[in-house]
Amino acid sequence: MSRRQVLAGAGGTGLLAATASPAKAAVRARRARAGTADGTPEQVHLTWAENPATGVVVSWASPGQAARPRVRIGQRVIPAESRPYTDGINGETVWTYHARVGGLRPGATYAYAVTADNDSNAADPFSATFRTAPQGRAGFRFTSFGDLATPNTSWVLSYGQSAYAVEAVESFQPLFHLLNGDLCYADLNPTVQPEVWRDFGNNNHTSAANRPWMPCPGNHEVEFNNGPQGFTSYLTRYTLPDNRVPGFGGRWYSFRVGSVLFVSLDADDVVYQDAGAFVAGPAALTPAASTGHPPIEPGTSFYLRGYSAGAQTAWLERTLAAGRRDESVDWIIVQMHQCAASSSATGNGSDLGIRQEWLPLFDRYQVDLVLNGHDHDHERSFPVRGADAEAGHEVATGAVVNTLRPHPVTTTDSGVFDTSQGTVHLILGCGGTDAPLDEYGTDTADGQRQAKVFTRANRPALTSTPDVYARAGADAVEDAIWSARRDTSTGYGIAVFDVEPAGSESGQASIKVTHYHAVGADPVNPGTGAKGAPTPDYTEFETFTLVRPR
Ligand SMILES: [Fe+2]
Repeated sequence: MSRRQVLAGAGGTGLLAATASPAKAAVRARRARAGTADGTPEQVHLTWAENPATGVVVSWASPGQAARPRVRIGQRVIPAESRPYTDGINGETVWTYHARVGGLRPGATYAYAVTADNDSNAADPFSATFRTAPQGRAGFRFTSFGDLATPNTSWVLSYGQSAYAVEAVESFQPLFHLLNGDLCYADLNPTVQPEVWRDFGNNNHTSAANRPWMPCPGNHEVEFNNGPQGFTSYLTRYTLPDNRVPGFGGRWYSFRVGSVLFVSLDADDVVYQDAGAFVAGPAALTPAASTGHPPIEPGTSFYLRGYSAGAQTAWLERTLAAGRRDESVDWIIVQMHQCAASSSATGNGSDLGIRQEWLPLFDRYQVDLVLNGHDHDHERSFPVRGADAEAGHEVATGAVVNTLRPHPVTTTDSGVFDTSQGTVHLILGCGGTDAPLDEYGTDTADGQRQAKVFTRANRPALTSTPDVYARAGADAVEDAIWSARRDTSTGYGIAVFDVEPAGSESGQASIKVTHYHAVGADPVNPGTGAKGAPTPDYTEFETFTLVRPR
């Protein structure tokens, strides 16, 4: 199988390498019969099916409507489901396809090809290989970051590092990658959302066609006029494991690989902060006439807190309880976009909503690790369990406020942490976006690390400029005694997790975590003022080990 049609890096244009001209002529003839639409596959990506040991879903898009879109794997031809949608701002129709590939062998490598009758590469269609998950207590590697964006710097918050970040995933050859929200910031480019998603998909494709990339929604997946939570662009492009909660498919889900239960959440449902789609003004955002939608007035934001009316939290409790009852599960790892424990000074910081709704469940069911994006940096907490009361102060008045500050079970940075005693939080918003936020808070009064905390909604408020609105930052601060390590040298990196195979004599399960970072990639380093540029060099920042008794 050839990979020569895999995308060449940046920009997401020029998807297809040339094919031999007789083949092209045949394709042109076939396309003429099929109509004028271009069904050539692009943005190819994999996700796990319900059981990662036996199934994947192959998803892709095409510029026009594909005729008989399908996947070939071995002797099988699997028809794809067509799932088009029309963007609610610019009225463009996007064509996506999803083929469920089941009945696979665990821990096996498969080759597949993606094509359609009107594929301009039909004579030599796009092809790639992937590996299914192992069965039982086997070792495996996964990687994670969030806040990726695209390499096309025409778009707001896109930056060249996002191409190197995708290459970094490939360089570590993980079984799969966790992409923890804020995928491409299409909502910040509201009149061209499908184009931004296309560049995102074509950038990821160089890795996500070879191994599943499992996403969660972030605040920037929330788009005006695109479904009840604004997730139509996101949900149409991904087929994710079924959570069996009617009306909320794809927003949250879980899956098992080896002895690890992975739980992916949508924190938009519980956070106080208002950070989804927003029209700041002074002009209204006017959708294309074809959409039939009225102008969206300045000061309008798409605020989601409470959208599932408790359905997600109830599902989370059921899922965690079942996981901890299951003796074949050693580890529970959660990914969500927004943060319960971030001390970023220039980013968003922490949110009381997650601490109220979900941290008690993480304590009760001994969640080992929580992976977040949102703040474009890297921070690691000590293991935390329970909360310190009355540890926060309101920014405006200095009054004491209960931020439910996560309580560290140790403040010794030993490099080995027993997560049966407390949950480690990692901030990994270090993908590739053009807004590195590697500045962290310090309490000038006592020199302690300081975190901002949202304890209430920061809905849009009119500024001193007529018709211009803004959303305030976090309303409280606390001494971040839970913060163990902060990367001040760059806002870019990738975390690599090696789940150790069974059979260690110590009776402990372990996960080795290595964080690699791209020093010098910051457009401007906030600490030194040095100007940087995108870099392919990811070097080790730190290694630590999680253990838990079996
Ligand atoms: Fe975010």
